[in-house]
Amino acid sequence: MAKKTLEDCPPETLSNEIVVVRVDYNLPLDADGEVVDHTRLVRTLPTIRYLVDAGAKAVLLSHLGRPGGRPDPALSLRPVAGRLEKILGSPVGFCPETTGPVAREAVQAMKGGEVLLLENTRFCPKDAQNDPGWAEEIAYGTQLFVNDAFGAAHRAHASTQGIADAVRRGGGEAVAGFLLEKELRFLCDAMVDPERPFVAVIGGAKISSKIDVIEALLPAVDGLLIGGAMANTFFRALGWAFGDSLVEEDCADTALSVMEWAGEKLLLPVDVVTTPSITPDAETRVFASDQVEEGEQIADIGPRTVKSFAEVLGTARTVIWSGPMGVFELAPFQSGTYGVARAAAAAADAGATVIVGGGDSVAAVAAAGVVEHITHISTGGSASLELLSGKKLPGVEALSDR
Ligand code: 3PG
Repeated sequence: MAKKTLEDCPPETLSNEIVVVRVDYNLPLDADGEVVDHTRLVRTLPTIRYLVDAGAKAVLLSHLGRPGGRPDPALSLRPVAGRLEKILGSPVGFCPETTGPVAREAVQAMKGGEVLLLENTRFCPKDAQNDPGWAEEIAYGTQLFVNDAFGAAHRAHASTQGIADAVRRGGGEAVAGFLLEKELRFLCDAMVDPERPFVAVIGGAKISSKIDVIEALLPAVDGLLIGGAMANTFFRALGWAFGDSLVEEDCADTALSVMEWAGEKLLLPVDVVTTPSITPDAETRVFASDQVEEGEQIADIGPRTVKSFAEVLGTARTVIWSGPMGVFELAPFQSGTYGVARAAAAAADAGATVIVGGGDSVAAVAAAGVVEHITHISTGGSASLELLSGKKLPGVEALSDR
């Protein structure tokens, strides 16, 4: 990797040093403020343990939600600190401020090997404004900033980019944590030097939100499988009947040019699951993709499509999957997404590198019960899509070069 990582920082240089770490603890919370899924916490443990074992003073920064630059008790990181403490198995302090005298005092009072989580960086508007003065403040005079927040690396905020610039201006280093390094390695290796056949599965509702990724993937992949509601726009472009299904009319031309460019690489669903109304107890029918009747809405890929997608995945040596195949949250429409999840898991079991990115597909893989089989599940939704689209991530660009 062209950027420095925590591996470039020997433990003996970290003892009793303040090390500021940007993590992405933007976790799903329930109505009582309890953490529902703590995957993002668990994935930062290697970095935190490395610092704790080295006797560093680990100051953690994160955002949670979008509080709009003002404090919101419902988006406090306090419950997250409690959860991290349990998972880490050692004390994690929490400071209800991000900057100011209370936070400074809390940081100064730390001893080597301790962990302190500061309050939500987005309680202050200066984070999203990438305010250089505020970036200096949250750096707490550190000589080492560690960015382990892959999920937020596409944001040019004070706590991602500004702080890295500030620390480097002050003669220190800004490096990737172990999670960030791993995410970049998997996603970049797949794009740069994939073992072939290389197959991408792209789903989700809208072609407009995935077109950059599709255009970046097309020259790299051997096969591109399209599912989810975005396939409807391809059907529309082909002049097929799509009933009352969701379609992006203004993207039909885009879909057409993607198909022309992709040629035989691109596989659309050959059949679809439909319903008059997308509800948890909906009655479903299966149609060939070009024969959907009026009054029907496409809500999943059909069984013949699952079989053909599974066959393609069975031959792949590298797979990238982003976006569900249908409305998998509802039982009548989960077969397509679960079928692809199982096929992706089988490919990984057979030795393929299988990477899943994007919030919905990660949730789908979890719901299908195949998490343990997938080679790499990205913690970044938009960040992984931007990276796969060939865009530079400001939080990564700002790190020290090797
Ligand atoms: C995410 O969950 O995708 C990241 O934490 C980024 O959050 P944001 O879209 O609110 O910046």
